[in-house]
Amino acid sequence: MILSKWLATLLGGAFAVQGALAIELNIDDESSLKSAAKTVATTMMKYYDSRESKDIPGKFDGTWWEGGSMFMTLILYWFVTGDTQFNDAVQEGMYFQKGDDNFFPSNYSQYLGNDDQVFWGLAAITAAEFNYPERDGEPSWVSLAQGVFNTQYPRWDTSSCHGGMRWQIWPYQDGYLTKNAISNGGLFQLSARLALYTGNKTYADWAERIWDWSATTPLLKQKNWNIADTTTCGTQCTDHGDFQWTYNYATYISGAAYMHNYTNGTETKWKEGVEGLIKTSQQFYPTTGFNGAGGQILADITCESGGNCDRNQITFKAYFSNWLGMLTTIVPGTSDLIFPQLKTSAQAAAKQCSGGDDGTYCGTRWWKQATWDGTKGLEQQMSVLGVLSANLIPFVNKAPVTLSSGGTSKSNPNAGTNTSDNKVPVLNTIGTGDRAGAGVLTVIFVSGWAIAVTWMIRGG
Ligand SMILES: *[C@@H]1O[C@H](CO)[C@@H](O)[C@H](O)[C@H]1NC(C)=O
Ligand SMILES: *[C@@H]1O[C@H](CO)[C@@H](O)[C@H](O)[C@H]1NC(C)=O
Ligand SMILES: *[C@@H]1O[C@H](CO)[C@@H](O)[C@H](O)[C@H]1NC(C)=O
Ligand SMILES: *[C@@H]1O[C@H](CO)[C@@H](O)[C@H](O)[C@H]1NC(C)=O
Ligand SMILES: *[C@@H]1O[C@H](CO)[C@@H](O)[C@H](O)[C@H]1NC(C)=O
Repeated sequence: MILSKWLATLLGGAFAVQGALAIELNIDDESSLKSAAKTVATTMMKYYDSRESKDIPGKFDGTWWEGGSMFMTLILYWFVTGDTQFNDAVQEGMYFQKGDDNFFPSNYSQYLGNDDQVFWGLAAITAAEFNYPERDGEPSWVSLAQGVFNTQYPRWDTSSCHGGMRWQIWPYQDGYLTKNAISNGGLFQLSARLALYTGNKTYADWAERIWDWSATTPLLKQKNWNIADTTTCGTQCTDHGDFQWTYNYATYISGAAYMHNYTNGTETKWKEGVEGLIKTSQQFYPTTGFNGAGGQILADITCESGGNCDRNQITFKAYFSNWLGMLTTIVPGTSDLIFPQLKTSAQAAAKQCSGGDDGTYCGTRWWKQATWDGTKGLEQQMSVLGVLSANLIPFVNKAPVTLSSGGTSKSNPNAGTNTSDNKVPVLNTIGTGDRAGAGVLTVIFVSGWAIAVTWMIRGG
C-alpha cells in the first residue's frame, strides 16, 4: 500500500515531466494542427465554463468585451476545423449579449468604450462571412454587425480633431477625451467588411472616411506607416501615445484588405496600406533579444519584454494572427508576407503550452519556447488558439462569402436603430435636498469607478 502510493507519486512525477513536452504539433499537417487547436480550445472553454458569472451567457468576470473577442476566435476555429462542439455556447453568448441588436446591453453600456462594442460587431461580421449557423427567431449575424455600425457612426465626433471616434462613449468616463487606434481602426475594419459583404457603398464611404481621418493624426502615419495607440482631443489630435500593439496594426491592415477587395483593386491606396503596415508590423517579430526569436516569433513587444501584459493585451496576438491570416484569401500575393512567420510563431506557441497540471496550459510569451513562462488563463489559450487556427486558413482556402457569393446572413441596414442607447445614462436618481453634495460624491465615485473600469478594459 505504502509502496504503491510512493510508486504512484513517482510515476505521477514522471507524467508531469512528460506533460511538460507540451502539445504536439506538426505545422505542415492539417490534422495535427486541428488536434492541437482542439486541445487549446477545450482548455479555454474550461475557463469559460467555470467562471463566476457563468449563469450569464457571454459575460466574463471583470470584463465584457472579451466575450465578443473569444466568440470571434471560436467562429474562425469552427470555420477552419469544422468542430461544432462550441457552437451552442457561441450562439447563446452572442444572442444573450446582443442588446437592442447592437451589442450595447444596458447592464454594461454605462461603462463601455467604442472598442469594447466593436469587437462584438467584428465577431458578428465574421459569423456572417463564414455562413456560421444562425438560430431561428434571432437577428441575422450581419444585421447585428450593422446594428453596431448604426450605433457607432453617429458618435463620429467633429467637435475636436475634425472627426474621429472617441475611445470612451460617455463624458464621465476617463478616456472620453482620447481618440484611439483600436476604436477608429475597429470601426474602419467593421465598415470595410460590411461594404464587401453587403456591397453597400455607404459602409465603404465610412471606411474611407475613417482611414483618411486617421491619416491626419498620429493614429495612422502614412509617411512611415506607424500607428500610435492614442491621441487626445485637447491637442486637436496632434499628441501621441506611442505604445505599439499588434492589434492596432492588424485592424487597419485588415480593413484596408477588405477595401482593396471591395474596390476590385482599383484604388492603390488600400494595397499600399496593407503592404506598408505589414512591413512596419515586423517590429512584432523582434530580431534581437527575446530569447533569440530571430524575427520569427510574434510578440506584443510593449508588454512582453517586461513580462507585464494585462489580460487584454495577452489576447491581441489572436486577432493579429486571425485578421492577417484571413486577408491572404482576399488580397492575392500576401501569403508569403504573412504565413512564414505565423508558422514559426505557432510552433513556438505550441511549445509554450506546457504549463499547468497536465502540461498543456499555454503561457503568454511564445518566444520562451518550451520553457513555460508560468502564466496561464483563458486569454493565453485564446491567443494560441488564434495562431493555430490562422495556420489552418490555407488548408481551407476559402474567402469570406458576400451576399453576391453565397452569403446567407440577411442584411438589415436599419438594425439597432430602434433604441434609446445613445442617451447619456442617468447613473443616480437623487432627491433635490441631497443634490449638490451627492452630485460631487457621484462625480468622485463615478470617475474613480470609471478610471478603475477603463483601466481594467484599457486597450480594448
Ligand atoms: C444583466 O444583469 C442581470 C442581473 O445580474 C442578469 O440577470 C442578466 O442576465 C444580465 N443581462 C445580460 C445581458 O448580461
Ligand atoms: C467590382 O467588380 C464587380 C464585378 O465586376 C462589380 O459588380 C462591382 O461593382 C465592382 N466594385 C466596385 C466598388 O467598383
Ligand atoms: C477579392 O477576393 C477574391 C476571393 O473572394 C479574389 O478571387 C479576388 O482576386 C480578390 N480581388 C482582388 C482585387 O484582389
Ligand atoms: C445602405 O446602407 C445605408 C446605411 O445603413 C442605408 O441607409 C441604405 O438603405 C442601404 N442601402 C441598401 C440598398 O441597402
Ligand atoms: C422598437 O422598440 C419598441 C420597444 O422595445 C418595440 O415595442 C417596437 O415594436 C420596436 N419597433 C420596431 C420597428 O422594431
